[in-house]
Amino acid sequence: MHPSLSFDQAPPISVPYRFFLAAPWFGVMAGILLAWSGPDAFASRWTPEALALTHLIALGFMLQAMSGALFQFIPVAVGGNVWRPRLVANAVQPLLVLATLFLVAGFLVGRPGLLSAAVPLFLLAVGGLVIAVAIALWRTPATGMTLWAMRMAIGGLAVTVLLGSLLAESLARGLPVPIIELTNIHLAWGLGGWALMLLAGVSYHVVPMFQLTRPYPPWFTRGFGPLLLFLLLAWSGQYFLGDLRWSAAIGLPLLVVFSAYAGMTLWLQYTRRRKIHDATSLYFRVAMISLLAFASSGAAFFLYPAIAVDPRSVVWLGVLAFAGVLVSAVTGMMYKIMPFLNWLHLQRLGAPMSAVPNMKKMLAAEAMTGQLRLHVLALLLLLAAVWLPALTRLAGVAFAASSAWLAWNLISTMRRYQTFRDQIRAVALHR
Ligand code: HEM
Repeated sequence: MHPSLSFDQAPPISVPYRFFLAAPWFGVMAGILLAWSGPDAFASRWTPEALALTHLIALGFMLQAMSGALFQFIPVAVGGNVWRPRLVANAVQPLLVLATLFLVAGFLVGRPGLLSAAVPLFLLAVGGLVIAVAIALWRTPATGMTLWAMRMAIGGLAVTVLLGSLLAESLARGLPVPIIELTNIHLAWGLGGWALMLLAGVSYHVVPMFQLTRPYPPWFTRGFGPLLLFLLLAWSGQYFLGDLRWSAAIGLPLLVVFSAYAGMTLWLQYTRRRKIHDATSLYFRVAMISLLAFASSGAAFFLYPAIAVDPRSVVWLGVLAFAGVLVSAVTGMMYKIMPFLNWLHLQRLGAPMSAVPNMKKMLAAEAMTGQLRLHVLALLLLLAAVWLPALTRLAGVAFAASSAWLAWNLISTMRRYQTFRDQIRAVALHR
């Protein structure tokens, strides 16, 4: 067992699994939506389809998977005690599914009632999650930058959802708020303050542990989160003050901070002693290369505004961020966490260690790398489709297929758990 993990408080296996198993289906929906809508979807960031796709991935895929990971990670890695995890998960997860479907349908059909209906559901679901997780994160006696990054990320999630709710209500009721400015603040907190902050915090812990690298240097972990938070506050402040002269002066350092995390993770992978090329390491590599591409494209748009005039340039950034960074990193993590949880929970059934199959038996390596290849193909097609609209439907089909394959792989992992569990119980009965 890893020295910095404690499994005494680990929640029942159904708690993380109900989130993990739901996540890929939102990817399937996103792919089908894109294939069905065709080239118009990527015409600009404001098309109903682009907004629906953004939130199918941000809330359906990512928030589901990350919530599952939080329930597991907080007790095990930072010693926090989430209150009644099964009860909270059983309430939060279906509410999140429903809220996401309402919001996405609201964007697509332009019905104000659907957007308004999504808001209280999100406030309830995310409110419950944030409160349960925040109490656990503040009460734990643990210390360290993983913990601080997670605390900041939970704050980032709360800000994102509150701003998203305000935006949705404003669109539904025609409230006089500056929509574009608020959207730009909302997306910065969603991508930077929530998703990337959490990813980095979790990486400090799991990249050295699962990918056998050296640890992230302390100067890096101490600097990354606070700097990111400071820059996000500055980014938001400029919109509140209505003074956008500093946009590039804040945006460029923000992109440098993003690149520093990507560069450091790639460097740690490159300099590790044992070269392993499992799906998790490769998925992380895809995510970090996408993050570097996101940061350099963003910097080019700041420095040469003429190329950013094309409305598709922001869509290009969106594809890199969502399909390139977030879906890749989250999938890579799930491929490591699920086999590990299978092994952990089987081992806790009290069978002798020799009776518990090792992690490699939980999901075939070829199934993961095959799905990874399809995901990379889908990502390349999505990026190409931003500039070559004729490829949009094909990209959508590829993304739906890769997400369906992911769903199948995760279901197979869960089934393996059930099979091995039943075998161990049967042997125990006959002893
Ligand atoms: C938690 C993760 C979330 C992330 C990462 C996220 C991300 C984004 C992004 C990137 C955009 C800009 C889309 C574009 O420019 O094409 C956006 C816009 C928007 N989001 Fe979110 N979002 C999140 C949650 C939410 C929630 C919970 C709601 C509603 C309750 C919401 C409602 C909206 C609305 C209404 C817009 C603007 C639509 C418009 O101006 O036409 N978001 N979001």
